[in-house]
Parts: sequence; C-alpha cells; structure tokens
Amino acid sequence: MSIIFITGGNTGLGFESAKRLKELGHKIYLGCRDEEKGEKAASEIDAESIVIDVTDDESVKKAVESYRQKETHLDVLINNAGMPGAQVLPKDITADLMYKVFNTNVFGIVRVTHEFLPLLELSENPVIVNVSSGLGSFGQVLNPEKIESKVNSVSYCSSKAAASMLTVQYAKGLPNMKVNAVDPGPTNTGGQFTHGTQTIQEGTDAIVRMATIGRDGPTATFSDRNGIIPW
Ligand SMILES: NC(=O)c1ccc[n+]([C@@H]2O[C@H](COP(=O)([O-])OP(=O)(O)OC[C@H]3O[C@@H](n4cnc5c(N)ncnc54)[C@H](OP(=O)(O)O)[C@@H]3O)[C@@H](O)[C@H]2O)c1
Repeated sequence: MSIIFITGGNTGLGFESAKRLKELGHKIYLGCRDEEKGEKAASEIDAESIVIDVTDDESVKKAVESYRQKETHLDVLINNAGMPGAQVLPKDITADLMYKVFNTNVFGIVRVTHEFLPLLELSENPVIVNVSSGLGSFGQVLNPEKIESKVNSVSYCSSKAAASMLTVQYAKGLPNMKVNAVDPGPTNTGGQFTHGTQTIQEGTDAIVRMATIGRDGPTATFSDRNGIIPW
C-alpha cells in the first residue's frame, strides 16, 4: 500500500486516477483548490482531501503542513493539476498569458515537488508522476501523422514541453527516486479539456501505471497508455 498525493484530484483525470488507485488498495490524498469540491470528491472514494492551489506558495506550504499532521512520509506524488490557457493565435500571445499557464503547469509542479521532497525522501520507493501531454512532445507535434501536430498553442504546448524537461532534470538529480512524465492522450474530461475520443479511464492508464511502479521501475521516461513516446 502506497500513500499517494494527487493535485487537481477533485475532477477529470485526477479524480479518476485517484479512484482507480484507491481501488488498488492505496491511501489517497486529493489536493484540491476548492475545499468543498475536494471534500465532496474525497467522500465519494473514501479518500482525504487537502486544500492546495499550486500557483500559491503559501497554499502549497499549508497543504504540506496539513499533510504532515496526518502522515510521516509520502510514497507517490502525482502532479496532475493543469490548465489549457487562452486559445489565442501566436500573434496574440503575451508574456502575461504565458505566465498564467506556466504558473500552473510548470511552476506549480516545482512548488509542490519542492515542498513534498523531504517527505518523499522518507519513502522506501519514492515516485513522482508529472502529467505532461503529447502536445508538449517535439516528436509528436512535428509528426504530421499525429493528431498533436494539428494543434497550435504557444502557451500550453511549451508549458508541457517544460514539464517534460523538468521531469528529466529532477530524475537526473534525484537518483533515489523514480520521476516520470506521462501523456494521458486526448480525453474529453468535460471541463477545460473537451477534445479527444478516449474514455476517462483510458486517459488515466498511463498515470495509474506510472504511479504504481516498483523499486525496479523506470525513471526519466515519457509514456502514454501504449508505452514510451518521444520527448
Ligand atoms: N484531458 C486531456 O485531453 C489531457 C491530455 C493531455 C494532458 N492532460 C493534462 O492532464 C491533467 C488533468 O487534465 P483534465 O483533463 O483532468 O483537466 P480538468 O478536468 O480541467 O481538471 C484539472 C484539475 O486541475 C485543477 N487545477 C487547475 N488549476 C489549479 C491550481 N492552480 N491549483 C490546484 N488545482 C488546480 C482543477 O481544479 P478545479 O476543479 O478547482 O478547477 C482540476 O481539479 C492536466 O495537467 C492536463 O494538462 C489532459
């Protein structure tokens, strides 16, 4: 049994992953920025919820303090919270629009990872899963046969490319941990992400697989539900 903390756990891929991981016998903490939504989601799957806004240093610190009151270590951190950002043409992209997306999709991962690292270090098999995207994969967005090549989003795609690279850099610098990036694949989760034909369950396959790797599991990989994909 692992203890798992997942950001953006109240809905979409985060909630479905949490539900599946709970069914596998793990202890789940849902990190949610809205207390009410978090408590409702947690009660549905018999998990715990902790308020966390990944864009806010103080909120992340408080969340980790709350977690420390209940647990002495963390086995698996799933950095899932994310946003698509404004759908604008490249000519209309501004630094402010970029910052908003990076603040959640990139700096959010750094804030949460930084605060949880001391607790992960106390685990016998520490694992970090960063939910990236095929839209951040150079190999996919430049391959005309892939659906990802049809999308042009300066902010979202570059934020997910950054999330993938920070996965590799954390993996290199934290050899005692497994740090991997996953691409859920295009999934209509009913909220901000409405493109895609996969079921929500399919969209969580890679997350669940990477959250449950053993001590001999991989690190510094990027995979979707079918296996390794190009960076
Ligand atoms: N769906 C897809 O097709 C797809 C494909 C590839 C990658 N992804 C990635 O998969 C992840 C989950 O996507 P999804 O489709 O499940 O999206 P979603 O249904 O919109 O859920 C996003 C979750 O992130 C939370 N969140 C957003 N900003 C946050 C913040 N500042 N602090 C804390 N939580 C925050 C949301 O909370 P609220 O409910 O409070 O808004 C929500 O729980 C994202 O990282 C996304 O980029 C999705």
